[in-house]
Amino acid sequence: MTSETGQGDPLATHFGRRIVSPDERRRLVRSTFEAVAPRYDLMNDLMSLGIHRLWKRRFVSLAAPRSGERALDLAGGTGDVAFALARAGATVAVADPSIAMMTVGMQRPGGEAIAWVEAEAEALPFDDATFDLVTIAFGIRNATRMDAALAEIRRVLRPEGRFLCLEFSTPRRWLAPFYGLWSRTAIPALGAAVSGRVEAYRYLVESIGRFPDQPTFAGQIEAAGFADVQWQDLSFGIAAIHGGRRH
Ligand SMILES: C[S@@+](CC[C@H](N)C(=O)[O-])C[C@H]1O[C@@H](n2cnc3c(N)ncnc32)[C@H](O)[C@@H]1O
Repeated sequence: MTSETGQGDPLATHFGRRIVSPDERRRLVRSTFEAVAPRYDLMNDLMSLGIHRLWKRRFVSLAAPRSGERALDLAGGTGDVAFALARAGATVAVADPSIAMMTVGMQRPGGEAIAWVEAEAEALPFDDATFDLVTIAFGIRNATRMDAALAEIRRVLRPEGRFLCLEFSTPRRWLAPFYGLWSRTAIPALGAAVSGRVEAYRYLVESIGRFPDQPTFAGQIEAAGFADVQWQDLSFGIAAIHGGRRH
């Protein structure tokens, strides 16, 4: 096997249309977000027609942060979810491997009230049972090893602590042709026009297509040691919010 193709490597994963070794995928994902960071918020609005804002609002209301709670927003990027948690009175840390994404977040009003920590979901630099709440929005799909990420999320949550995950998911069957067309054409075209990184947005579309459907992902969360796992579809399943509490 070579690190460029991952051929023959049983741990090989995907990056866009290429099959690469896990290390190579990790490197490519990191460099992708470093490159798109300055245009990331604009791209989100364009590609989702602003709907991601409604999804995140719903997500934070289900997370129900309380004043004084300790919350971790994993893969927090430029901080949309973190700022909303902080506004509710929680003490918030963002963990994300991309300094460029977090730098955009830090410069937003109120950015100094949040702790910005360079880290990957698979190896979190926090003690056991540090947080009351862990959120992750459009981030778990980027983890090279989702089982390791879920295990780390469980570890840093206190017993009975809440975990909520917002992620693209499997839309209703009738919507699939329209959504597929939008994803395959408009998203890479917008990505190329605004960020100049068509490959980055191909990666986005491919990684969404490979992500497990709602019940399968719920089973993975349960297998990682969470109870009361439930999900709620958003926009007919284009995205879904999964939640559970630490056993
Ligand atoms: C699509 S952005 C989501 C940002 C933000 N949560 C939001 O909803 O706007 C994905 C984020 O995941 C981060 N990321 C990539 N690999 C990661 C990993 N292994 N662990 C944690 N975060 C990761 C990226 O740096 C990026 O900031």
